[in-house]
Amino acid sequence: MLDDAQFHGMFFADVLGIYDVYGGNGPALSSASQIPILDVSLMVGAMAAATTNLSFGLTASTTYENPYALARKFATLDHITNGRVGWNIVTSYLQSAAESFGLDQQVEHDERYAMANEFLEVVYKLLEDSWEDDAVIADPASAIYTRPEKVHKINHSGWQVLQMCWANLVHPSPQRTPFLLQAGASKAGKTFAATHAEAMFLPGMVPEKTREIVESMKALLRENGRSEGSMRFIAGIFIVVDETDEKAQAKFEDLLQYADLEGTASLFGGWSGTDLSQFSDDEDFAFKGPPAIQSMINTWTATVPGTAGLKWTKRRVLQELAVSGAHPRAIGNAQTVADIMQRWVDRAGVDGFNISYATTPGTFEDLIEHLWPELRRRGVLQEKYAGHSMRENYLQDGEGARVRKGHPAGSEHRS
Ligand SMILES: Cc1cc2nc3c(=O)[nH]c(=O)nc-3n(C[C@H](O)[C@H](O)[C@H](O)COP(=O)(O)O)c2cc1C
Repeated sequence: MLDDAQFHGMFFADVLGIYDVYGGNGPALSSASQIPILDVSLMVGAMAAATTNLSFGLTASTTYENPYALARKFATLDHITNGRVGWNIVTSYLQSAAESFGLDQQVEHDERYAMANEFLEVVYKLLEDSWEDDAVIADPASAIYTRPEKVHKINHSGWQVLQMCWANLVHPSPQRTPFLLQAGASKAGKTFAATHAEAMFLPGMVPEKTREIVESMKALLRENGRSEGSMRFIAGIFIVVDETDEKAQAKFEDLLQYADLEGTASLFGGWSGTDLSQFSDDEDFAFKGPPAIQSMINTWTATVPGTAGLKWTKRRVLQELAVSGAHPRAIGNAQTVADIMQRWVDRAGVDGFNISYATTPGTFEDLIEHLWPELRRRGVLQEKYAGHSMRENYLQDGEGARVRKGHPAGSEHRS
């Protein structure tokens, strides 16, 4: 359905531990707050077979994955999707994940980004450098499949990946490196994004605040010798649309009655590190220490519309996050919603949206039925995919697909 409606891509968030800051494991399990969570990489093949243009953004953590194994996995996915795969690079934030991977404590926030940086260096060497374009000839006459002299050991040595000597296990795929997405917007997160990311998910509830992140990112891109067009800025948004404003509002009110506030508190515990079970409903609490996801929580608390100067209480946090999460809400008929989206484009300077859903089936059918005709009428909906790969579709031709140092813009590989 998304493929037919010309969505650029489908994004899958992921976590590697359970949300247990709020009341232990119970609330997350009973409300299904990101648990159970299946491994999407095992399902992308089936989704790719059922679609022709839609891209798939998968989340993988540089803190717990192994670069050699992950490079192989993404090269495989890039082959079977024919270049329609992206990697949402995360550094992770749950203490429960650290413990599940055998650590007593999470690696410290900025150090996780330093590890991520080295992880990417290794992945580039494996995916971009270890196999030359013409390594595989599969030539029956000479009985040579791969020319050994065209496959190179990468010889990486560093502090995290101590010694890595071999080449990728998979031959070059259409994009080689998957399209790179990133979400953290702390200082360390932005520096990382300016070095590696090609699209960034931005936090924020009001466009003017998100614009500050966009502007600072553009400055960082220029410092890194990158063009502004080499990065796409994507805002999160929660949409409820119907024939009239009244119907959409009624639909949202109806959804609210199903909100699981224990589940909301559980997610908030993981994002912020704050356990709301320690507070009564109307008690004023101060956020202590740096939150687990700095950019999300700092931006969110600072920018929830209409809350300046108000107390942060458990009741208010849960009311604001119920159903829509930490995303701006666009609720109304097609015109109302399109106007809100346009405001984000104009005032925040974002290029597109990551639309979170309330129900499935439900949300996406509504979008396509009610909102798409209005966006099409305004000429802001993509009518035709720009290319074949995720990178071509997100960045378009001529904007420098290969943006990293040492990897000049160039032809993509087709298989
Ligand atoms: C909008 C948004 C979406 C995110 N999605 C995920 C996710 O799916 N999985 C994950 O482990 N981390 C996710 N993160 C966390 C970030 O990748 C990053 O690890 C975290 O934000 C800490 O970095 P920061 O302090 O720079 O924001 C997300 C963050 C933001 C702001």
